[in-house]
Amino acid sequence: MGFIVGLAYNLKKDCPRSDMEVEDACAEFEEQSTVDRIAKALRAGGHRVVKIPYRPGLLSRLQRLNVDIVFNIAEGWEGRCREAIVPAILESLGIPYTGSDPLTLAVCLDKAVTKAIISASGIPTPWCRKVNNVNELRDLEAGSLKYPLFVKPAYEGSSKGIRSSSKVADYRSLFEMVNWITTVYGQPALIEEFLPGREFTVGIIGNEEITAFPIMEVRPVLETEPESFVYCYDTKHNNLERFLCPAPVTDELASAILDVAIRSYRALECRDLARVDVRLDNAGVPNFLEINPLPGLSTVSLFPVTAMASGLSFEDLIERILEVAATRANLAARRAAQVQTQQVIAGARPRTVLQRR
Ligand SMILES: Nc1ncnc2c1ncn2[C@@H]1O[C@H](COP(=O)(O)OP(=O)(O)O)[C@@H](O)[C@H]1O
Ligand SMILES: [Mg+2]
Repeated sequence: MGFIVGLAYNLKKDCPRSDMEVEDACAEFEEQSTVDRIAKALRAGGHRVVKIPYRPGLLSRLQRLNVDIVFNIAEGWEGRCREAIVPAILESLGIPYTGSDPLTLAVCLDKAVTKAIISASGIPTPWCRKVNNVNELRDLEAGSLKYPLFVKPAYEGSSKGIRSSSKVADYRSLFEMVNWITTVYGQPALIEEFLPGREFTVGIIGNEEITAFPIMEVRPVLETEPESFVYCYDTKHNNLERFLCPAPVTDELASAILDVAIRSYRALECRDLARVDVRLDNAGVPNFLEINPLPGLSTVSLFPVTAMASGLSFEDLIERILEVAATRANLAARRAAQVQTQQVIAGARPRTVLQRR
């Protein structure tokens, strides 16, 4: 049965930005072509699509639209709770939507908060400290820091604020990276132990029953110094990485990677879909790096590529995401109840009017 599906998104071209901003300021937002491709896939599944760009007036527009469910890929513009905004509005209006709830989305955008939950769940993840500015570096005992370290923005995604220089080998470079992130990206910096091992990403879909798509390995094109490889803005821009899916791993390593990915998905109470980044430490143990509960769905995004490696087409994937969300939200029953209520109201209206008179 086809639904009326609202498609909520943030377009790159609508991103409020100043001339002062860095080149990757709008990296996480969508191209129109991605939105159109998702809309086309939803229509192919027999649904009616209403596009809902993230703009002022969103709440009243949603109130008027009468959609059955929202396919949510909206990231919001600013702050560490930005991905939670559309789901919070939808919850306040009682409209079902795809993906995780506002709490999970906000938690997962802040890498330090996420890692606190991951560590408390007994899942390996590199040591880290969050600092608000370079002055707070003084509180870290400089002598106790074990280099190399990795410095990244505390709440970004899409490799924003991550460069080859994010791996730092001494206090001076650490200071420079923390200074750059806190001033240019206007947020705390996360200082993490650098993991020198292979890197993987795992796409997951589902709720009570979950499916992990084939593990993808991200590798440098030139394997001269694979242990220094960082999948970041520079490598993406210059096509310096390659993707192997399924990853060439032993069964033992595959199950250790999947264990980290699935336990992380559960620990963070993700819903419907997410993509988990995992990297090996120097003992070869898979560690949690970060999770994306709103994974990219563009033609070059990793989540759909891993889905395709499992035999799903892009249209199948979009339908699966909608289906798991609709089942979780008990959408068919909700819709039947709504139709019944509408019939009762429609039938009752003349009598109510007569009684009032
Ligand atoms: N602690 C770390 N050790 C080694 N590499 C890291 C570490 N943290 C991040 N990276 C590298 O930087 C990339 C981007 O970091 P990630 O935390 O996934 O940020 P984003 O949310 O932007 O994807 C990773 O894919 C990995 O290559
Ligand atoms: Mg990542």
